Amino acid sequence: MSSTARFDWKVPFYIICVTCGLITLPLFLKSIGNQLSTVCTAYVGKVPSVKETNISSVIQKSEKPILLIWLWPYGVKFELKDCKTHFNIDSCVLTDDRSLYNVADGVLFYHKSIAWDLGNLPKDPRPAFQKWIWYNVESPTNTGRKAGLENLFNLTLTYRRDLDITARYELSIVKSPEPFVCPQKNKIVCWIASNNIAGTGASVRQNYYNELRKHIDVNVYGRAVSGASSLRQEDYYSTIASCKFYLAFENSRHEDYITEKLNGPMVAGTVPIVLGPSRENYEQFIPADSFIHVDDFSDPKALAEYLLQLNQNEEMYMRYFAWRQYFKATPHLLSTQNEFTQPICAACDHIAKDNTFNVVHDLFWWFHKNVEGHQWK
Ligand SMILES: *[C@@H]1O[C@H](CO)[C@@H](O)[C@H](O)[C@H]1NC(C)=O
Ligand SMILES: *[C@@H]1O[C@H](CO)[C@@H](O)[C@H](O)[C@H]1NC(C)=O
Repeated sequence: MSSTARFDWKVPFYIICVTCGLITLPLFLKSIGNQLSTVCTAYVGKVPSVKETNISSVIQKSEKPILLIWLWPYGVKFELKDCKTHFNIDSCVLTDDRSLYNVADGVLFYHKSIAWDLGNLPKDPRPAFQKWIWYNVESPTNTGRKAGLENLFNLTLTYRRDLDITARYELSIVKSPEPFVCPQKNKIVCWIASNNIAGTGASVRQNYYNELRKHIDVNVYGRAVSGASSLRQEDYYSTIASCKFYLAFENSRHEDYITEKLNGPMVAGTVPIVLGPSRENYEQFIPADSFIHVDDFSDPKALAEYLLQLNQNEEMYMRYFAWRQYFKATPHLLSTQNEFTQPICAACDHIAKDNTFNVVHDLFWWFHKNVEGHQWK
């Protein structure tokens, strides 16, 4: 397909899209506003206005593949140049301009944003070269099975390692290690928890916490626990650093479902206490002696006793940081606006390299297989 042929028929299409966009934008913003009023109030006013894009310049200048974000997670946008700024990824043209649909190499859909009747998916036929990417950050417990998504996508973007594009925080190898200086600690155990909705599976960790606090003081921040103080974004790493241990409790327990909750203490210089998939599964991502797993103890009381013992024994405690000679953790982006940046940049990078043909036949079969579902008691 030549670029002139592309350009001719796209202009009217573009005008229609922009017009429709302008008409529906207020309704769209209002509906996100309603849905998100508790989740991210700060953003609603900030969704950028529809901007003109010089399509011909995008297409002519670029040999790079185009990745079109059709559905932003929760409608929350980040700056399209952030992939370059934060991750040095510049291998695709990232856009949310739907008029580029017919030339886009990849089109990305955030699972939660897909309408249950699939009414917000593209209506136009899909060009033969185009790949649809299904993007989901939630664990199976929190992933709705929407009918009609079989045989529709070509690639999946999730936290799982056995799928096409994996987005997660990984340790990197230290080339020239510096001696680790343990940050000043004035608290023993801390926890930041923002969600205690039982339907998300969070009751397992809530129950564990309720039991644990009977035996050891836990400093809690965030909305999930009544009376807990809220935490400003800029205090996130320093607060975690001021505690000897941090409860890196996932909301549900599934293979590979290990989130930024673990990355925070690994970055800050604090020992994570994990509740999530099995110890074995954690050890596939981080060194065995870098964390404490709740399953290592018969119950929360036994864990509390061990923590109090470590609190008294500097040498035993410091062993949990031996891994830092070999690896380092990279801070994750904290703003709500950038919550989804890294995975989308990973998709951008993937689409530039990938030239395989692929169809995801049954989206939910693999996603729900290997569900551990085990609980701590
Ligand atoms: C669009 O980009 C092309 C190529 O870079 C340039 O020649 C043209 O003047 C631009 N048009 C506008 C309206 O900016
Ligand atoms: C993408 O998947 C669809 C099926 O949903 C298929 O028809 C199409 O050929 C696939 N394209 C590529 C490039 O893999």
